[in-house]
Amino acid sequence: MKLVVNGVEHALDLDPRTTLLDALREHLHLTGAKKGCDHGQCGACTVLLDGRRVNSCLVLAISQQDAQVTTIEGLNHPVQEAFQEHDGFQCGYCTPGQICSAVGMLDEVGKGWPSRVTEGDDVELTGAEIRERMSGNLCRCGAYANMVPAIAEAATR
Ligand code: FES
Ligand code: FES
Repeated sequence: MKLVVNGVEHALDLDPRTTLLDALREHLHLTGAKKGCDHGQCGACTVLLDGRRVNSCLVLAISQQDAQVTTIEGLNHPVQEAFQEHDGFQCGYCTPGQICSAVGMLDEVGKGWPSRVTEGDDVELTGAEIRERMSGNLCRCGAYANMVPAIAEAATR
């Protein structure tokens, strides 16, 4: 099978049951995306598929042969700088997933997609919106307080 990751096409010989996360980490040695829970509950494995955020532990690699996969290694986005400047991480284990998720989330906001806390027709990127939209990404270090301003500021860059 093939997998296009960060703009590079790879030919892989994989068991069809291999998840996208395992294909990235174990076969392509891209270890930015982390395996936290392996059950779709922590967001540590978040990557972008054609620009949309997904939990790569819940996706079969073989089903994504036509997609552009972007991992933290291939990302170049203001959210990364903002996380550094605002100290949006401690141990950094959740950080690649947080950043990929924030990039996907800002794109969703840009398209005007509402969340559970959106009021009215226009999406305003309030702290509540950021927290709600990032709620699938857990951080055991509790770096959330600095992630929220980092994401808010990145949205203005
Ligand atoms: S490792 Fe995929 S959501 Fe936790
Ligand atoms: S910075 Fe340690 S888990 Fe988030």
